Amino acid sequence: MTMESSTTGSDIKGSVDIDSTLIEGIVGDRPIVWRELFSADRPVEIEVGSGKGLFLANAAARRPDRSFVGLEVSRKYAREAAARIAKAGLTNVKLMRGDARIFFDRPVPPASVETIHVYFPDPWWKRRHRKRRIFNDWFVDRVIVSLVRGGELRLATDVSEYYESIIKLIARRAELIAVDFPEPGEPIAGEADYLTNFERKYRIEGRSIYRACYQKTNG
Ligand SMILES: C[S@@+](CC[C@H](N)C(=O)[O-])C[C@H]1O[C@@H](n2cnc3c(N)ncnc32)[C@H](O)[C@@H]1O
Repeated sequence: MTMESSTTGSDIKGSVDIDSTLIEGIVGDRPIVWRELFSADRPVEIEVGSGKGLFLANAAARRPDRSFVGLEVSRKYAREAAARIAKAGLTNVKLMRGDARIFFDRPVPPASVETIHVYFPDPWWKRRHRKRRIFNDWFVDRVIVSLVRGGELRLATDVSEYYESIIKLIARRAELIAVDFPEPGEPIAGEADYLTNFERKYRIEGRSIYRACYQKTNG
């Protein structure tokens, strides 16, 4: 499958083969074997809601010694992210197109993930839609189960009310302790030093950004 890419920015244009990067749908009811998926035995990092894939592309280029999985429900964004990654020649990233809640409900083996990233999750502003937010007790449970001991959950949002509710949700869990959010590495050539596409947009708009990082302990 090739894709004609036409995103904002000048970084991904032209036709690229996304077949080996994009997995359409979240399938299977047996836990994924990471080393089979990547044909390599490396620590695994997962990004929930990877959008257009700026974080994945930068993180995977900085850390070729790690495997990255992007979960993205939007077909358009998943394809765009896969094109960005394929164009960059990154073989340590897989994009799974589907609902992250289905993914965490089944295929993630317990204590198998080094880091889970959730950047600018949809805030679902309307009260009647709040139950669609990714952060709830169930999701925090799945994060705890999936992380290795010492593994991290990293999150960022521009929505202070959502941030406060996440902090409260996690404060109830002895298995996760707050630690400093890690400094980003050196900017990748040709890319501004932003964590994600939404961070780029919000920083240009001058919005506040709230970040948190938690480490899994014994509990
Ligand atoms: C506000 S955007 C942020 C995208 C990216 N993280 C960034 O910061 O640029 C939220 C993204 O999460 C995706 N998303 C929302 N709910 C999801 C779910 N349950 N599973 C996977 N992706 C989801 C949306 O399609 C969207 O691309």
